[in-house]
Amino acid sequence: MNSAKEATTVVTKEQVLDALRDVEDPEVHRSIVELEMVKDITIEGSSVSVKVLLTITGCPLRTVIEKSVSDKLLELPGIEKAYVEIGTMSDEERAKFAGKLRGKSEAQSTPAILQPDAGVEFLAVASGKGGVGKSTVTANLAKALANEGLRVGVIDADIYGFSIPGIFGVKDARPTVIDELIIPIEVDNVKLISMHFFVPNNNPVVWRGPMLGKMLRNFFAEVHWGDVDVVLLDLPPGTGDIAMDVHQLLPKSKELIVTTPQANAADVAVRAGIMGLRTNHEIVGVVENMAYFQCPGCGEKTYLFGRGGGEEVANALKAPLLAEVPIASMDALASGIFAVDSPQGQAFKDLAKRIIPALGLAVRV
Ligand SMILES: Nc1ncnc2c1ncn2[C@@H]1O[C@H](COP(=O)(O)OP(=O)(O)O)[C@@H](O)[C@H]1O
Ligand SMILES: [Mg+2]
Repeated sequence: MNSAKEATTVVTKEQVLDALRDVEDPEVHRSIVELEMVKDITIEGSSVSVKVLLTITGCPLRTVIEKSVSDKLLELPGIEKAYVEIGTMSDEERAKFAGKLRGKSEAQSTPAILQPDAGVEFLAVASGKGGVGKSTVTANLAKALANEGLRVGVIDADIYGFSIPGIFGVKDARPTVIDELIIPIEVDNVKLISMHFFVPNNNPVVWRGPMLGKMLRNFFAEVHWGDVDVVLLDLPPGTGDIAMDVHQLLPKSKELIVTTPQANAADVAVRAGIMGLRTNHEIVGVVENMAYFQCPGCGEKTYLFGRGGGEEVANALKAPLLAEVPIASMDALASGIFAVDSPQGQAFKDLAKRIIPALGLAVRV
C-alpha cells in the first residue's frame, strides 16, 4: 500500500519556483527564477527535478548553481530527493536573457548606470603625472570601500596603461560576454572592467582618440554593472582625450587627486590647471601617496621624498588633504592590495571612511 505521501505530490510547481527565487546567478546577481533560467519542473512524490539553463556550456560556476538549487529544493517540506540538470541556453534564450539584464536601458540611449535615477556615485582618481600611485590608490580605496559594505565598481580608464587587473591579481581573467553584454570580473566584492581583459597577449593598444572614447563609453553601456553604489575610475595621468571624455560622460563625477610629497610649485600649477579644464568636477580631496617610511620596529617616520606636496596641492585646489599613505616595503606590495592591518591598509580604511560622506553615501549594514 502506498503511503499518502508517495501517492500525491507534496509541493506545487509554484512552491518550487518560490523556493528558488532566492537563488542568484553568481555572475550577474539576479534571481535565476526572474531570469527564467529554471525549466522543466517535475514533482513525483517526495522527489523533485528541475533543469537550470546556463548562458554558456562549461560555465565555471555551474557547480555553485547546482548546489544552491539542490539545497533550496531539499528545504521544501516533504521533499527528500532533488535532481538538478544543468543545460545551456539556445541563442534565442541567451538574447532574451541579455535583454532582461539590460532592462529599461535597452530603449534608451543613456546607459542604465548613467541614468540620473541610478543612484550611482562616480569618483575619478586623477594625477598630474604618472607613477605617483594613482592605480594603487584606486584599487586599495575600492577594496576599503567594499570592506565598509559598499557595492563598488572600478573602471580602468587608463586604456593604454591599464594596471588594475594586475593589482587585483586577475590578469588572466576573461569576462563572460552574453549577447554583447559584458559581465565585469568580480574580486572580493569589487567589480572590475579594464581594457586589459580585451587585449590578447598584452599587445599594446594602438587605437586613436575617437576609438578610445568609444571604448570608454562601452565600459558604461555594454557592461552589466548591476547594483553598485560607487564606481571609481582610474584615469590616465594628466590631461588628454580620455580625461575630456570622462568629463563629458560624467559631468557630475567627483574627483580625488593623488600626489607625492615632493613639493614642486610648477607641478601644483599644472595640476590646478588640469582641474580648471574640468571645472564642473568637484574635487573631494587629495591623497599624498608614499608620504613617509615608518620604521616597523621603532615607529619613527622618515620623509624619504620630502614633505608638503599633498598639503600644497590641497591648498592650491582648495580641497582637504584626506590621507597620507606611507611607503610600503617590497614585501607588503607583493599583492598590490595592502593587508587590512598594515599601515597602508589602515590609511585606506580611514580614507574610505572620509570619502563615504564626501560622496553623499551612507555605510550599508
Ligand atoms: N605607498 C606605496 N609604497 C610603495 N610603493 C608604492 C606605493 N604606492 C604605489 N607604489 C608603487 O609605485 C609604482 C607606481 O604606482 P601606480 O599605482 O602604478 O602609479 P600610477 O597609476 O600613478 O602610474 C608601482 O610599482 C606601485 O606598486
Ligand atoms: Mg596607473
